[in-house]
Amino acid sequence: MSEFPQLRLRRLRRTENLRRMVRETRLSADSFVYPLFIAHGHNLKQEITSMPGVYRFSPDSLGHEVEEIARLGIPAVLLFGLPAHKDEEGSEAYAPKGITQEAIRAIKKAVPELVVITDVCLCEYTSHGHCGVLMNGEVDNDRTLELLAKTALSHAEAGADMVAPSAMMDGQISAIRQRLDEGGLTQIPIMAYAAKHASAFYGPFRDAAGSTPQFGDRRGYQMDPANAREAIREVEQDIAEGADIIMVKPALAYLDIIAQVKSGFAYPVAAYNVSGEYSMVKAAALNGWLDERRAIMEVLTAIKRAGADIIITYHAKEAAGWLRTP
Ligand code: PBG
Repeated sequence: MSEFPQLRLRRLRRTENLRRMVRETRLSADSFVYPLFIAHGHNLKQEITSMPGVYRFSPDSLGHEVEEIARLGIPAVLLFGLPAHKDEEGSEAYAPKGITQEAIRAIKKAVPELVVITDVCLCEYTSHGHCGVLMNGEVDNDRTLELLAKTALSHAEAGADMVAPSAMMDGQISAIRQRLDEGGLTQIPIMAYAAKHASAFYGPFRDAAGSTPQFGDRRGYQMDPANAREAIREVEQDIAEGADIIMVKPALAYLDIIAQVKSGFAYPVAAYNVSGEYSMVKAAALNGWLDERRAIMEVLTAIKRAGADIIITYHAKEAAGWLRTP
């Protein structure tokens, strides 16, 4: 056993090549999933004000974008649809010609091998902006399950490779698994937003997707940010119901939960580096307050180091580009 002055941890930090040899965590575009917002329209590529560098696309303008994503080595995209009409039951979410279904078909036509994952939730589609249907002013869990299952089935029928339910309804994974299996879609995996917290960091997303609740908030179904033990129970429940991949969301303020889920379960762990985490870095960088590239790579490395196998991030394209040309 050696001690200072024989022991000197700085010896292995002296040059870049030495540091490369002992680096414990390596980022790769293989882990990235790039979220895409899709809206109705023609030739639409509209920047989201609160998320510089992130755009809403129309299905007809997706081809070029997904070719670029694939060229950068990113294996998957996660789709969020913005419907033409919202109603109480979020009916465009499960319409055969709904916005997400059209986007899936457009992407599959342009780049068939790109993994298309869809967010399965009602909040973008309901007039009240909640993630399920209402009963006496509250989200009715069990009636919502039917609509989530219908939505997941219709995404898979349109060609989605994976579905990602994010509504935080109890029983949503088993309801979806059962409906997919009955529909002959036994090969479609479910990535469960298992430990999804009621977070202020979803602010820019709600602006991008027009999904802010018209009254109240989501604390009646999303998790309390204070709870980590309950996150483990959510993960256990989703695994018991048939989830294939477990997600923790958001990522940065929840690295402890990512680490616990990674060590406690032999399932692939996804972490969602959410909109507010992206916008914070972008805003500071635009002000010249931090080195953008270093900050982004540090954030993504930390999420990976905590245990994420899959990182859903709006930084995916820029980070993948930097990983190609160091
Ligand atoms: C839909 C959903 C949300 C996000 C992903 N799926 C918003 C919310 O729950 O309010 C947030 C993603 C982000 O902030 O980047 N329920």
